[in-house]
Amino acid sequence: MAKKHRIAVIGGDGTGPEVVAEGLKVLKAIAKKHNFEYELKEFDFTGQRYLKTGKLVSDQDVEELKTFEAIYLGAVGDPDVKPGIIEHGVLLKLRFALDQYINLRPVILYPNVWTPVKDKGPDEIDFVVVRENTEGLYVGTGGYLKKGSPDEVATQVSVNTRKGVERCLRYAFDYTRKRNKRKQLTLVGKTNVLTYAWDLWERAFHEIGRKDYPEIKREYSHVDATCMWFVKNPEWFDVIVTDNMFGDIITDLGAMIQGGMGIAAGGNINPQGVSMFEPIGGSAPKYTGQNVINPLAAIGALQMLLENIGEEKAAADVEKGIRYACTQMKSMSAGKMGMSTTEVGDTVAGNI
Ligand code: IPM
Ligand code: MN
Repeated sequence: MAKKHRIAVIGGDGTGPEVVAEGLKVLKAIAKKHNFEYELKEFDFTGQRYLKTGKLVSDQDVEELKTFEAIYLGAVGDPDVKPGIIEHGVLLKLRFALDQYINLRPVILYPNVWTPVKDKGPDEIDFVVVRENTEGLYVGTGGYLKKGSPDEVATQVSVNTRKGVERCLRYAFDYTRKRNKRKQLTLVGKTNVLTYAWDLWERAFHEIGRKDYPEIKREYSHVDATCMWFVKNPEWFDVIVTDNMFGDIITDLGAMIQGGMGIAAGGNINPQGVSMFEPIGGSAPKYTGQNVINPLAAIGALQMLLENIGEEKAAADVEKGIRYACTQMKSMSAGKMGMSTTEVGDTVAGNI
């Protein structure tokens, strides 16, 4: 008998639950077609629950989540809650506690999707960013001196461990090999200024690449120049590997060149543990409850989730459905799609 997949669902804040509902609609259709079973459990980690109860994600919640095969997340961020609380208490808490050390963000322009980059199309915009997801500036090392005084000092330290850098690089090399496109991995950093952290990254990159991945071409690009190349020559990239902060920044630009936040998906991956998949665009509170938000990013996250739990064929079919929906939609932007949120979900599910 086929195994029953156990998936944890966190709708989250704002439009998160709406886009997740469309993803689950697609999951239902794809499971039927590919003959697998699944069970879902929903977790209410929202800003509204926090306001009522003061609860975020507890260690006990984390232990429970560890018993699932994967997590499907909508969005975090509630304008009623002070910025940073939900982000730290839910999203970053889960990434760190579940040691999801990779943030995988494909930047793929699908046919019929508008890009602000002139003269570039699906052939030119097709790469993947591997963002380190548990270190760097995100560890929260630092502090104040003389806070509130004119002599105040604030430090925020980027932590890069050999182990953390190495496991991220190895994942990126393996991914480049498996992707089997141009077999090119670009390290994106800032070796000319941040000479400690990026020296470690650069040494590890070449050591590991030379020894264990000789067929993968190694390239390097400064992060600022990378932003320029994303716009000028995105076709230069195959797979990119970078640290947490740079990865955060360049993948927002990446999302824009692939058609916007409505289509950009990502995975927080622990290759040995439980991974979590999400649309990268956030909770878009002003569109909540209007049935106008684009669910394709969430459906793309579902596609990545299916790949992660070993349902590759189902994942490939979901991608076909997304590609089809793109040909039927007027725009990827909320309210301008020429369809409602639920109609986009129906279009993908119906194509399956
Ligand atoms: C992202 C988001 C998060 C990040 C925020 C919400 C903490 O911007 O997933 O890219 O900075 O990683
Ligand atoms: Mn971000």
